[in-house]
Amino acid sequence: MKPDISVTFTGLKFTNPFLLSSAPPTESDSNIMRAFDAGWGGVVTKTIGLHPVTNVAGPKTKFLRSTLDGQLSMQKRPETALHSSWNWELISDKPLDWWIPKIAGIKKAYPDRMLIASIMAGSGNDKELAAWQTLAKACQDEGADAFELNLSCPHMDRKDMGSNIGKDQAQVSIVTEVVKEVATVPVWAKLTPSTTDIVEEAAAAFRGGADAIVSSNTFPSLPLIDPETLDFEMNVDGLVSSGGLGGPAILPQSLAKMSQLTNAFPDRAFSGIGGVSTFAHALNYMLLGCGTVQVCTAAMLDRAIGPNVIKTLLEGMQEFMAKRGYQSIEDFRGLRRGNVVVHSKIRRPEGKEYHGGHDAEGYAVGGRH
Ligand SMILES: Cc1cc2nc3c(=O)[nH]c(=O)nc-3n(C[C@H](O)[C@H](O)[C@H](O)COP(=O)(O)O)c2cc1C
Repeated sequence: MKPDISVTFTGLKFTNPFLLSSAPPTESDSNIMRAFDAGWGGVVTKTIGLHPVTNVAGPKTKFLRSTLDGQLSMQKRPETALHSSWNWELISDKPLDWWIPKIAGIKKAYPDRMLIASIMAGSGNDKELAAWQTLAKACQDEGADAFELNLSCPHMDRKDMGSNIGKDQAQVSIVTEVVKEVATVPVWAKLTPSTTDIVEEAAAAFRGGADAIVSSNTFPSLPLIDPETLDFEMNVDGLVSSGGLGGPAILPQSLAKMSQLTNAFPDRAFSGIGGVSTFAHALNYMLLGCGTVQVCTAAMLDRAIGPNVIKTLLEGMQEFMAKRGYQSIEDFRGLRRGNVVVHSKIRRPEGKEYHGGHDAEGYAVGGRH
């Protein structure tokens, strides 16, 4: 008998735990339906706002690659491996009115596949907060199965939008609560990794009623400067702003954030994102306690919606479970959550003890490091 790879996450039944995250692969109905045909268990739409955005006058995303001897560049060169994606793309450039019939159409064609609407508005005044409710009501009326609140877009100048909300615990709670007031479907909060202690913002989202936390969005970063031209490898008229890093480079960093979250809230639901392209990568998030795993960069590089990526993920999970005799994801979800501990709990050689720097053997009196 084949192992059962379906999962129930925030009360929703997914045929498998792998989702396309909110990004270019999910910015049209045709792409989303292709993704379901390819086998993705769920899709999070590109973030929908009330007002369409205008992107920069140039490429919105590029890929940084490394040669074997460590030369990093966005320029196409032979024999390189993917290091990361870098983007400064804003939310969907299509208005809510464009999305509404598309959501309805997708759900009509794929009633048993999970379609999560990523939504975003401001938080600076009542009108902006009401916009969250307008977006939520419109999407759920057309059949969206859940919401993902974009509290994490790193490119917003407005102090009450995107990751600027995600950095402010009070705003995280308020926005979540405002959406929960009208939501008839689960509400997931996608947090920014660029805060001191993501556990604090997650606690704020849970206080507001969030059903799950999603992490990570991209990490703040810059493109590299070309040593020949002295220009940033991505720029418009020589100028650049901080953008978001995704792909392989962020897998360990995003795992660290996730481990903090799942250890602080072992009974809550988490969706892991960041640097996943194989089942071995996704397994990390599951062993830390995630119930679903999302993918962006790897899918963008695989015929836009990742047909080969999802095939690899599904085959990998089935093989892994069959080999170990696991019946469902619950047999191994969270199995390594407790193995991430504070430094002083790690064994020292020859049975010596370390007291976390409090006693003389740590950062000793008079000692300098
Ligand atoms: C070009 C691009 C656009 C993105 N747009 C959104 C977006 O609209 N909303 C959102 O929540 N995340 C957005 N993301 C973030 C991704 O959903 C994901 O969190 C991030 O890329 C990390 O996953 P990865 O390492 O698989 O790429 C975007 C990422 C990229 C590369």
